Amino acid sequence: MSALINPSILSADFANLERDLARIATADWAHVDVMDNHFVPNLTIGLPVVRRLAQVSPVPLDVHLMIDDADRWAPAFAEAGAGSVTFHAEAAQAPVRLARELRSAGVRVGVALRPATPVEPFVDLLAEIDMVLVMTVEPGFGGQSFIEGTLPKVRRTRAAIDAAGLDTWVQVDGGVARDTIGRIAAAGANVFVAGSAVYGADDVAGEIEALRALADA
Ligand code: DX5
Ligand code: ZN
Repeated sequence: MSALINPSILSADFANLERDLARIATADWAHVDVMDNHFVPNLTIGLPVVRRLAQVSPVPLDVHLMIDDADRWAPAFAEAGAGSVTFHAEAAQAPVRLARELRSAGVRVGVALRPATPVEPFVDLLAEIDMVLVMTVEPGFGGQSFIEGTLPKVRRTRAAIDAAGLDTWVQVDGGVARDTIGRIAAAGANVFVAGSAVYGADDVAGEIEALRALADA
């Protein structure tokens, strides 16, 4: 399967979200960062905005919840029209129950790990989810530098998935750009979130294509 490129609209123009979603029509998914100012020190958008984005987006929404109490709030994002809902392992009390609830709502389910959170305690969860999101920066802001020290975790995540015979996706988020995507792909990721790299480019569609080609090389 070809690498998936999911531009993060955190780097889009928040006064022109519909226009900026149209600019990424050749991407695979639109990555939507929901932050609550508690789990991370930043506040973005919530349910009413996500609901409208799902109605106008040319590609399905990949919602990344950086919020406390994911068990309580995540299912509403499935109902709001997301195609994929990712919650943080650190923010869920009952991740298996939540994953099952989300799957039964018809969305793909992701579990995200902060850079300092190991994957090993979550290996038994892999069969219950569709994607592991390995954060490659501290969550909260776009435009940060890729943390090289997260690459071994990408490798260990891919190895655990392969060992279990699963086809779970491995997503990376943070500092993904032309100069980093090749070695992240080589470590086993197949879904790439890129905010500043895509929306900072003069030719957005060209940047998406260039990133995909580098990941597939
Ligand atoms: C950060 C968000 C990312 C962010 C990535 O907490 O989860 O999705 O938009 O931005 P870049 O690609 O600029 O590092
Ligand atoms: Zn994100």
